[in-house]
Amino acid sequence: MNPPGARGCLITLEGGEGAGKSTHAIRLVRWLRQLGIKAILTREPGGSPGAEVLRRVLLSGQMASLGPAAEAILFGAARVDHIDRTVEPALSAGKFVVCDRFSDSTRAYQGAGGRLDPRFLRALERVTLGSLRPALTLIFDVPAAEGLARAGRRPSAAAGPDRFEAEDLEFHERLRAAFLAIAAAEPGRCAVINAARPEEEVAQAVRDVVASRLLAKAEREKVPNA
Ligand code: TYD
Repeated sequence: MNPPGARGCLITLEGGEGAGKSTHAIRLVRWLRQLGIKAILTREPGGSPGAEVLRRVLLSGQMASLGPAAEAILFGAARVDHIDRTVEPALSAGKFVVCDRFSDSTRAYQGAGGRLDPRFLRALERVTLGSLRPALTLIFDVPAAEGLARAGRRPSAAAGPDRFEAEDLEFHERLRAAFLAIAAAEPGRCAVINAARPEEEVAQAVRDVVASRLLAKAEREKVPNA
């Protein structure tokens, strides 16, 4: 189904804590493969050896004392490595790339959360992404208190909250508003998924959006056989 010579598509999953992105990223890749589409699953921060090293440092909270600008630059550095080593090679090979968090997390967490100047974040996004843009961004939306409660019930929660889970409810409410504002500003790229529903319904909603926005378009753009 990946037409020979065609570039792949980048699909990003975004949203606050406990919205179910990781579960649905796995399910989406499985479904794409069932359709015969070559797809890889990756994540940020991380997704390449260098970026995984930065992930550990960033999520440990050791960089928080440097301030939000330096933290944002480190997320950007991890993203550059991830794009160069993982995302671009897969897209060039015609594969779909499903990425659990990407550049909108920097806009939301470091922007709304860290209250950074949007001009600084736009400049950082320009240098880290170059001309790369997600073909589709799914924004998983869930009330902040519910997302935090779900995150607290994950097995990994036993180790205690990470750098951002540890922020207060007001921070997470600002985040939710920031993600919804991104979706409203770029409706062609983004689709909001109501993630407060049962898992099966959310998975169906994800498949419907991917099918209507990407797969139908790819089908239409196929050069007809002469
Ligand atoms: P992760 O355990 O992957 O969180 P989740 O399961 O909620 O996706 O940790 C990623 C954390 O890093 C998450 O709290 C969001 C934060 N983050 C940023 O602050 N900026 C970024 O650019 C990215 C990619 C993530």
